[in-house]
Amino acid sequence: MSTALLNPQDYSDSLKRKNGRLYLNEVDLDQFLEKKETPIFLFSKKQLNVQYQKILKPFLKIGANSINIAFSVKSNPEVQIIRQFLANGSFFEVTSLGEMNRVLETGGDPKKIIYTNIVKLDLTIEQAIRSNIGYYAIDSYHDMQRLEKIAKKVDRKIKVLIRVNPLVELNSTLFSCTGSRSKIGIPIDLNEQSKFLEIINYCKNSSFFSLVGIHVHLGSQIINIESYRRAMKVISELLIFLQKRDIKLSILDIGGGIPVNYGNPTPGPELFALIIKEEFNTILNQLNIIIESGRFLTASAGILIFSIGNIKQDSIGNEIICLDGSFFNTIPDVIVANWSFPIINLITGDNVPLIKYRLVGATNDTLDSYQDRKTLDLTFVTLQKLSINDKIVFLQAGAYSLSFNSSYCLEKRPKVYFLE
Ligand SMILES: Cc1ncc(COP(=O)(O)O)c(C=O)c1O
Repeated sequence: MSTALLNPQDYSDSLKRKNGRLYLNEVDLDQFLEKKETPIFLFSKKQLNVQYQKILKPFLKIGANSINIAFSVKSNPEVQIIRQFLANGSFFEVTSLGEMNRVLETGGDPKKIIYTNIVKLDLTIEQAIRSNIGYYAIDSYHDMQRLEKIAKKVDRKIKVLIRVNPLVELNSTLFSCTGSRSKIGIPIDLNEQSKFLEIINYCKNSSFFSLVGIHVHLGSQIINIESYRRAMKVISELLIFLQKRDIKLSILDIGGGIPVNYGNPTPGPELFALIIKEEFNTILNQLNIIIESGRFLTASAGILIFSIGNIKQDSIGNEIICLDGSFFNTIPDVIVANWSFPIINLITGDNVPLIKYRLVGATNDTLDSYQDRKTLDLTFVTLQKLSINDKIVFLQAGAYSLSFNSSYCLEKRPKVYFLE
């Protein structure tokens, strides 16, 4: 991937290059970094809000009864991020007691929390129910039974969504939650004797459940928009099928998956909104839609800055730059998802030569490097010539990095800073 002289503004509305210097929210980053130890994560709260509005605006126009965004906490559980989305009036999608407590401790309204974990242990659920959590996504028959058992114990009627698998293959993303191999969701099956309809009927008739909607999360970084459309068509047909049986579900939680640009342009929220408008056209005005987003909300708000710790050559003459941090404790997506990120020089100059660099992390582990893991081909990043201690910046670094990172080799985790 050639990333020579990328325009940072193509990746974040809050980044700007002026006279070779990089600014985030108008703050000169070279000055900001003086006396700070890298690697560093730096977030723009303004950009979080920009991304929130980018989703909200097109969806508000589709004609649904209501639209709400639920921030998917797993994508970035930092308190300041949660606080920003609280200020936006967001709902929150949580998948563990830890995430739930983080939102509640930050001042979140339990009624605006959706609990989606596929494994709901008794103690976890009891605490969630006692905390008055708004919605639970039921992921299987046993999940349903367990949830009901605890609701009965606590003597509360709880609102539930059925988490479905529309069985449409997504192919384009590593993180697919639909299709025949998915570990998530109850496969939709409208045959009379199906387990799926048994679950729906059970929930409808339970004294401890109020069955209010359907939950579907197809996966993260969805590029294959036609598969998305096909899946949404299945959900729309499901809702209409249930309506005919007098099961009127008012909440449609469409999960997350709005992708971000890691170097290739991706479909934006307008396209996702259009698909929902077209596929749910006849029943939209009866639906309260929830969009659970993580990656799209947080990726562009965060940048990751490294210093060059070492420069060397491999035996065939490739220039290697060694960063002062490991990918394991900064941006594990490089390893887990085999993703390249847009990377730029912190400072650019006129007439500085471009060099094709190999990029490796600070640990002795060979995995800790930029390399295509399927083909084992080396991956090169084109940057203006660097010297030891110069800085480079990973863009789109705000999603999933902090939540996933490890202290492998007991490397220190990067500090996190926020700009308003
Ligand atoms: C249930 C659920 N909702 C929402 C999301 C957020 O997805 P994304 O970050 O792609 O928007 C996830 C993440 O995988 C998820 O598991």
